[in-house]
Amino acid sequence: MQPFLLITDLDNTLVGLDSALEELNQYIHDHRQQYGTRLIYSTGRSPTLYRQLAEEKNLLEPDVLIVSVGTEIYYQGKAEPDARWAAQLGEHWDREVIRAVASHFADLVPQPESEQRPYKISYFLAAPAAKEVLPRLEVALSNRGLDVQLIYSGGKDLDILPRLANKGNAMGFVRQDLEIPPEHTIACGDSGNDLSMFVERPERGIIVGNAMPELLEWHYLNPSSNRYLAKGHCAAGILEGLQYFGFLA
Ligand code: GLC
Ligand code: MG
Repeated sequence: MQPFLLITDLDNTLVGLDSALEELNQYIHDHRQQYGTRLIYSTGRSPTLYRQLAEEKNLLEPDVLIVSVGTEIYYQGKAEPDARWAAQLGEHWDREVIRAVASHFADLVPQPESEQRPYKISYFLAAPAAKEVLPRLEVALSNRGLDVQLIYSGGKDLDILPRLANKGNAMGFVRQDLEIPPEHTIACGDSGNDLSMFVERPERGIIVGNAMPELLEWHYLNPSSNRYLAKGHCAAGILEGLQYFGFLA
């Protein structure tokens, strides 16, 4: 068996179906010991909310933890985020100006303080308003010379991030750092903030069976043999995808 790199979102992807999570944990635990397989979590949660989840659920310790939608990368045993990655994100990024622009949009409700991070500003935005608000916000931000991206997930969360910072680019950075080829790398997700791990990426992808419409719609319009849409939900879908790609013994 070849080692592989499993990079997975947490909420409603790895976590959500406890019995399947136990089974997947056991498999990854053994594969790591025998073949040096690597495990990375990539979540929208801040470090604070990640720790909460890790206490509630039985999660393996990841080799690398990517939090706050690709904006912070923590290698195992390090308390500080990777400085090489952070150094790439600061250009054309000005928190105060972004917040000032966003404050003119009454539909944007700031998320809790724990979710506001150095390179991530987050709001709640209800789905009915999003269609109209997102394009206007994009124009307003770019008129101020800000090169940012808007990521809308689950019909409720809006993240404003530096252009370069998303889960897909963070995955590419770590994968190259660990010197793992794309064909041995499998990314798993369920919602809008996972899209960047699948769009024009060389790695393989698993979309779990319970994925949100925002991800499914794109998947159906852009079929690829490098990407597997599982029938099973959450960790059961990941196991199914690993089988499909030949990584399940
Ligand atoms: C997580 C984060 C939140 C973010 C959402 C979508 O729920 O806590 O801040 O908006 O993921 O990326
Ligand atoms: Mg998710």
